[in-house]
Amino acid sequence: MRMIETRFADIQRILDEAVNNEDIGVHGPFWRGVTRDQFVATEIFGCPIIHSENGLLNGPQSPLVKILRGPIECGGGDFPQMPAGIFPPLAEEKIQTISEWIDAQCPE
Ligand code: HEM
Repeated sequence: MRMIETRFADIQRILDEAVNNEDIGVHGPFWRGVTRDQFVATEIFGCPIIHSENGLLNGPQSPLVKILRGPIECGGGDFPQMPAGIFPPLAEEKIQTISEWIDAQCPE
């Protein structure tokens, strides 16, 4: 597994910046005030945000990564690209950072 410098706090910062640190509606800022383990186990509207295969967490296949790139189907539901509403899409470089952090098994 590739070693990376990125930590959970960095992911929380990227997602906070994506919504201008606001208390967004609908599902809320689900990455705030949770542990790394709680974050990894998060499901939103029946959609697990992290994809795991044979016990390995997979970045590019994770709904969290895919939904930042475009609309997805997940857990039986159809979802628009995130962040929805007034916020612009994340820069691909930041999405890639999140994806690589997941591939590195979400280091704390
Ligand atoms: C798999 C993960 C996610 C799912 C399934 C999901 C699902 C949804 C759904 C169904 C809505 C309502 C859409 C609408 O009103 O048209 C929504 C709204 C929103 N989501 Fe997500 N979302 C996810 C991840 C994220 C992430 C990572 C962010 C931030 C980077 C985000 C930011 C937002 C924002 C800002 C809104 C609008 C909230 C408001 O009305 O105040 N979502 N999301």
